[in-house]
Amino acid sequence: MSGKREQWNSRIGFILATVGSAVGLGNVWRFPTVVVQSGGGAFVALFLLIVVVVGVPLIIAELTLGRAGKQNIVSTFSRLAPNTRWWFVGLFSLVTVFIIISFYSVIAGWAVIYFVGSVMGIFTGLDAAGLTQLNQQLISNPVIPVLGQAVFIFFTVLIVLLGVTGGIERISKIIMPGIVVILLILLGRTLSLEGAVEGVIWFFRPELGLINVNTALDAVGQVFFSFSLGMGAILTYGSYLTDEENIPQSAFLIGVADVGIAILMGLIVIPALFAFNIEPGVGPAIVFVTLPAIFNTLPWPVFWSSLFFLMLSFAAITSAVSLLEVAAAYIVDQRGWSRKAAAITMGVLIFVFGLPAVLSQGVLSNVVFLGRDILDFMDFVSSSFFLPISGLLIVIFLGWVWSTDKALLEIEKGSPGFYWGRAWSFLIRFVMPIAIFYIFITGIRG
Ligand code: TRP
Repeated sequence: MSGKREQWNSRIGFILATVGSAVGLGNVWRFPTVVVQSGGGAFVALFLLIVVVVGVPLIIAELTLGRAGKQNIVSTFSRLAPNTRWWFVGLFSLVTVFIIISFYSVIAGWAVIYFVGSVMGIFTGLDAAGLTQLNQQLISNPVIPVLGQAVFIFFTVLIVLLGVTGGIERISKIIMPGIVVILLILLGRTLSLEGAVEGVIWFFRPELGLINVNTALDAVGQVFFSFSLGMGAILTYGSYLTDEENIPQSAFLIGVADVGIAILMGLIVIPALFAFNIEPGVGPAIVFVTLPAIFNTLPWPVFWSSLFFLMLSFAAITSAVSLLEVAAAYIVDQRGWSRKAAAITMGVLIFVFGLPAVLSQGVLSNVVFLGRDILDFMDFVSSSFFLPISGLLIVIFLGWVWSTDKALLEIEKGSPGFYWGRAWSFLIRFVMPIAIFYIFITGIRG
């Protein structure tokens, strides 16, 4: 096992890197898509509730476990609970990491293609119908998306190779503020489109009749996915923390940043759908049609569109890096491989495992599980099932095996007199296990 463990260079570096992990396709692509599929305002309201009750408390939990264990996802469990089999949870997380990063690279590959396409000007002048058609052609092509996926994985591996502290901290500091600026410009544009108001109303008005267990399951899945929870990404980042770090405060900031960007994105995409009369049925590619449509109504569409998709690709890279880092940290610590060998091997495996997903939009579109194509199925199974399951196991571990008392001692090192400590323990020990379990079981039966 390696002797000296890396630590973050600065507090702001840690926060931005973790926000970099959280903010990615989950906010820009997945959130608006799930909102549209699950009934608008009802879903948004549930999402916000789950952010408060489950999301932020779980960020605190993972950071605390990570800092207390100062290990990779598997040996954190064996260190904090020696002579038990809890390390199994770590292995389960590794499998989930692998599935997620495989399909994640596919969508991120689309962002890369859209960057190149924007620079070449192939989207300019098209209306929503033309963009929908071009999108179908692009993602169902057997070669182009595979290239995009390969380029994306290449850069992700490269950054993990260069080390997280230098590379990621620096990239995140440029990308995150840049994204916010572009999104604000887009927001101004959508809101001034004719017919946009209806979309804003649909986004915020909770049609309570639409809330059911499936919406809840989707909302839990979205919170886990967007906050990078449930499989050790946040835990691994926590393992590079110093004892002085104020964990609850950082968790709060990270949560606010992530939710803020998701809401911003929803407010851009959904009113635009209404204004441009785009069928929400276009599925996972919604964002790839609406956004270019908005860009085409702005002066310099090529400039905005290229800049946006470049930023999106980088935002996805900072997330994918955190996924790959979970696996790399494990292979390096436990198997004694070099960082280089670990990252490259994983990169190749992810590429191969992602192939069925990338081809599922074209050649393999006939392969369907539970009514979902391969890409959608991988997303659904990992986000709605595997993430909550391992999240459930993590809270049971923290609340009942390692104990919230020890966790509170750990938290108080950097946050003396953690004001919400008791409420937090209560959530971790009682509310969360019951809530996640209930939603989960009824969701499976329904
Ligand atoms: N949170 C990222 C996003 O929203 C994706 C991601 C990174 C992730 N690390 C994760 C999802 C760990 C689940 C678990 O795009």
